[in-house]
Amino acid sequence: MGETAVLDLGNGPIRLPIITGTESERAVDVRNLRSQTGFVTLDPAYVNTASTESSITFIDGEKGILRYRGYPIEELAENSTFVETAYLLIHGELPTAQQLQDFRHTLSRHSMIHEDMKHFFDGFPVTAHPMAILCAMIATLSSFYPEAIDPTKDEDTQLTVCRLLSKVRALAAYAYKKSIGQPFMYPRNELSYCGNFLQMMFAVPAEPYVVDPVVEKALNLLLILHADHEQNCSTSTVRLVGSAQTNLFASLAAGICALWGSLHGGANQAVLHQLHYIHDQKIDVKKFISMVKDKNSNVRLMGFGHRVYKNFDPRAKLIKRSCDELLDHLGIRDPLLEIAKSLEEAALADQFFVDRKLYPNVDFYSGIMYRAMGIPTNMFTVMFAIGRLPGWIAHWLEMKNDPETRIGRPRQIYTGANLRHYVPVRERTAALQH
Ligand code: ACO
Repeated sequence: MGETAVLDLGNGPIRLPIITGTESERAVDVRNLRSQTGFVTLDPAYVNTASTESSITFIDGEKGILRYRGYPIEELAENSTFVETAYLLIHGELPTAQQLQDFRHTLSRHSMIHEDMKHFFDGFPVTAHPMAILCAMIATLSSFYPEAIDPTKDEDTQLTVCRLLSKVRALAAYAYKKSIGQPFMYPRNELSYCGNFLQMMFAVPAEPYVVDPVVEKALNLLLILHADHEQNCSTSTVRLVGSAQTNLFASLAAGICALWGSLHGGANQAVLHQLHYIHDQKIDVKKFISMVKDKNSNVRLMGFGHRVYKNFDPRAKLIKRSCDELLDHLGIRDPLLEIAKSLEEAALADQFFVDRKLYPNVDFYSGIMYRAMGIPTNMFTVMFAIGRLPGWIAHWLEMKNDPETRIGRPRQIYTGANLRHYVPVRERTAALQH
């Protein structure tokens, strides 16, 4: 046995292996703790628990580092496309020119959804939240591919992966088109992945639509920055659900549900609501910061803080820069951007935020970019889901192909009533009356 930690729970010391990752992260391996000692570990919200070994994404929250398969996020943001980054996450290596061409071709070939699926959109009220539609539709997609429902028998997982990556765009765009009463637009496969999505969102049959290359580039960047973030809430959900040998469609639908929450992917929508509120109520930025600091107010500065980053979120830096470029190009002066910048400046200079190491996260400026592109606020988390799909898929595949994978099943410490015996309802009532 290599390096070990010694633990004494009263019955003499036991040795627990120490595992070291490729970036020198260290963990005490407790997988045999219960069988050796009868004890379990208690770690609410998994703050100290590594649920798996993984070779997909590395984060150093103290230094503000994010890398996909070893590549710094800054280099991918500068040089890659979302499709190439998706390939990298899923396959582990950057593609050759031929591999990239084949991947793009397969995605294009599978961009349409089955005609029968279009009718499902009619069943939703126009007020339906697009995240509700998206998670229902991703799970529903499985009914058109019965051969992929049992992941142990799916003979062409890569085709299932490409179908999901490609069709998610039509599902998201159709949810939006339904909400505004416009006809669904078929994909145009001569366009890029992002260009095609913009076309399905914003084109109408009555006139030609030209993709703005600056908007397309900005969307590529946003999707790359959202593509993976190791064992966050939604990714852990995908892995946990998938560990029951649940198919990819259903596992991803579960991830989408987890992402919807306002402490996770729903924060981008919450940020915009907060900025609107500050703007519409003409609240002074300093006063708002005081409100956030007051624990009784129950107000958090949305888009700030992160469980892992205790330094700048590197994605937020890249988005802030790109946000200025996009708004300049579109000739938009957004008062919400000015409020966001003032909030950031005030927060970063405030001891409350400094002490707690709270910095802007990926969601702080992304909503302002989506808004400038014409994407409505309630679609922001859907955009996050499109971006995160390759990461969820990569983790699901890693989990599925790992011979160590067993069904995920945490333990608990029971704190309820001790053994007691059933009393018939008549006697319970009589006892209460005395
Ligand atoms: N505004 C004000 N105070 C905050 C904020 C915030 N955004 N975030 C954390 N704090 C404070 C907490 O009140 C707490 O203070 P205390 O120690 O005095 O009690 C301290 O900072 C630590 O906060 P926790 O909630 O314990 O940190 P945790 O790691 O559990 O939560 C989270 C991280 C959920 C991201 C949190 O920072 C938050 O709620 N942020 C706002 C929502 C948000 O932007 N979410 C998106 C995250 S990124 C993503 O999922 C894509």
